[in-house]
Amino acid sequence: MATGSLHLGDNLDVLGACAPDASVDLVYLDPPFNTGQRRQALARGRRGALGPDGGFDDQFRWSPEVARRFDALCGAGGPLATALGAFRALAGEGDRLAYLTMLAPRLAALPRVLRPTGSLVVHVDPSTSHYVKVLLDALLGPGAFRNEIVWRYRRWPTRSRALQRMHDVLLLYAVGPAPKFHALYGYEPLAASTLATFGQRRQKADFSSGRRRPGTVEAVSPGPPLSDVWEIGVVAPSGKERVGWPTQKPLALLERLILATTDPGDRVLDPFCGSGTTLVAAARLGRDFVGIDASADALALARARLAADGFLTDEECPTLAIAPR
Ligand SMILES: C[S@@+](CC[C@H](N)C(=O)[O-])C[C@H]1O[C@@H](n2cnc3c(N)ncnc32)[C@H](O)[C@@H]1O
Repeated sequence: MATGSLHLGDNLDVLGACAPDASVDLVYLDPPFNTGQRRQALARGRRGALGPDGGFDDQFRWSPEVARRFDALCGAGGPLATALGAFRALAGEGDRLAYLTMLAPRLAALPRVLRPTGSLVVHVDPSTSHYVKVLLDALLGPGAFRNEIVWRYRRWPTRSRALQRMHDVLLLYAVGPAPKFHALYGYEPLAASTLATFGQRRQKADFSSGRRRPGTVEAVSPGPPLSDVWEIGVVAPSGKERVGWPTQKPLALLERLILATTDPGDRVLDPFCGSGTTLVAAARLGRDFVGIDASADALALARARLAADGFLTDEECPTLAIAPR
């Protein structure tokens, strides 16, 4: 049975206390996206009432305090400082640079906790993904990049003078040369041309003539290996999965990531865990989990979701230990 813990606080402050070196197999983070809005929780989620301040700020402003933090990061030198300096030259000192000043040191703190076979997945939107990719290349080296996963969803169209934005970006990086990876089958249909030629039979190349020829065996094909474009519905406002936390991600998204990059018994960390989607997906798949969030309301929801799935929680402890029931 999976075990795990929840930690209240700024992830930069608490990461050291809750994640020893090389102790985690997958880090997934879904930080604020710099939308410029306050993301308000529903007053009453499905798992109980939230406090009046439930939600989180997704607003980043350039200020003397942010400039001081930016200068400290640049003063430390190294590739991250070079990348940040280039962003200032390109984008100027505004909201975007303030956002990247928040994110950069948090990304920099994460490789330490990953095992050499581990993976880091950063969930962002298309307005910042190119900057975050450069930050991750700078931190981990350009060879560490593995996939840019496009999560495509459908939502109500909005008034826009550009194409409707209907996807997020998940950047998958490795920290070592031999990351864990499991190809996933059964998510995508066979191409129409493949079905016309082979039907549902599994294909196997035939090299008996010395040249590659397509052959077939009788087993039913599980479909092609999963690609890097995933069509998964958002959590519907009236859906059973909905717990009331803004920007809650679907369990199906996290399940795929966890299955592709970890084994049962591995440990998954989410340092911006919100309502605990990653932790619930990990626990259901038999992985241990560590969740961090700066909001007590978010952690209360995460705890309730985990409890509903059969985990006992210690509600009195600010760093919450969760043991199997
Ligand atoms: C986009 S939401 C995560 C949603 C989550 N994936 C889910 O499915 O519910 C971002 C979360 O980051 C938290 N957060 C923002 N800044 C933080 C920080 N410095 N340390 C820890 N958590 C933070 C917010 O409280 C919020 O819950």
